Amino acid sequence: MSISIKGKKDIENMKIAGKKAAAVLKMLEKHVVPGVTTKELDDFAFKFITEDLKSIPANIGYNGYEKTLCTSINNVICHGIPDEQKKLKDGDIVNIDVTVLHDGWHGDTSRMFSVGKVAPHAQRLVDITRDCMYAGIEQVKPGAKLGNVGHAIQEMAEKNYYSVVRDYCGHGIGKVYHEEPQVMHYGEKNTGIELKEGMCFTIEPMINLGTPHTKLLDDGWTVVTKDGKLSAQWEHTIAVTDNGYEILTLGEKEII
Ligand code: MF3
Ligand code: CO
Ligand code: CO
Repeated sequence: MSISIKGKKDIENMKIAGKKAAAVLKMLEKHVVPGVTTKELDDFAFKFITEDLKSIPANIGYNGYEKTLCTSINNVICHGIPDEQKKLKDGDIVNIDVTVLHDGWHGDTSRMFSVGKVAPHAQRLVDITRDCMYAGIEQVKPGAKLGNVGHAIQEMAEKNYYSVVRDYCGHGIGKVYHEEPQVMHYGEKNTGIELKEGMCFTIEPMINLGTPHTKLLDDGWTVVTKDGKLSAQWEHTIAVTDNGYEILTLGEKEII
């Protein structure tokens, strides 16, 4: 299979799905407080997507996944499953990841939330992981190589003595949730495929405070750090434009 190229109209449609995904994260902001369970957050998101946004929560049914959100707290790298036993507490950092399917197109985005008062070393990991994502995004333009994206992320992470998770990556996206290409968050400049106008993919670096090694829990989904240290992740869906990139999952009136 080759990498699909989206036309202008397709990208407009993806932007509609992307903005809806961003709206879910915005809606959740006021609910992410000490004491809320991740199941309650998932219920809010399900209701909002199906009733207000008139869209489909794309995670449900994806390889047998049963929830709307992934909620990944502290040492959880990604794919944490919302659970009524799991209460957020003061000082937690949590990634909330959502994908909205609207009119046949996917929008996939995630961000970190800081719960109550977070320790400085944890907040720094959150902030620098966001910088890593944007350093990767800024590399996107037609003619550039995909390896430039991973390289920029890795450089920013390692300069700060953090490590880049290698076992999970970003992905092409469109009518299909996960498609080619794989987007590594590490790598060498001027390697990999050449970016072309109309390609759409996610950039979603997972950055660890300790080693990059991962462990999959027995539930078959939850990925944690092997050393038990903190991990953070941010994600946007991006389109390659004629002269650079467009972020399809920015919120209404959001500027970066
Ligand atoms: N949204 C995740 C990603 O960024 C994938 C979640 S798959 C699920 O690609 F099944 F765990 F929801
Ligand atoms: Co993704
Ligand atoms: Co995602």
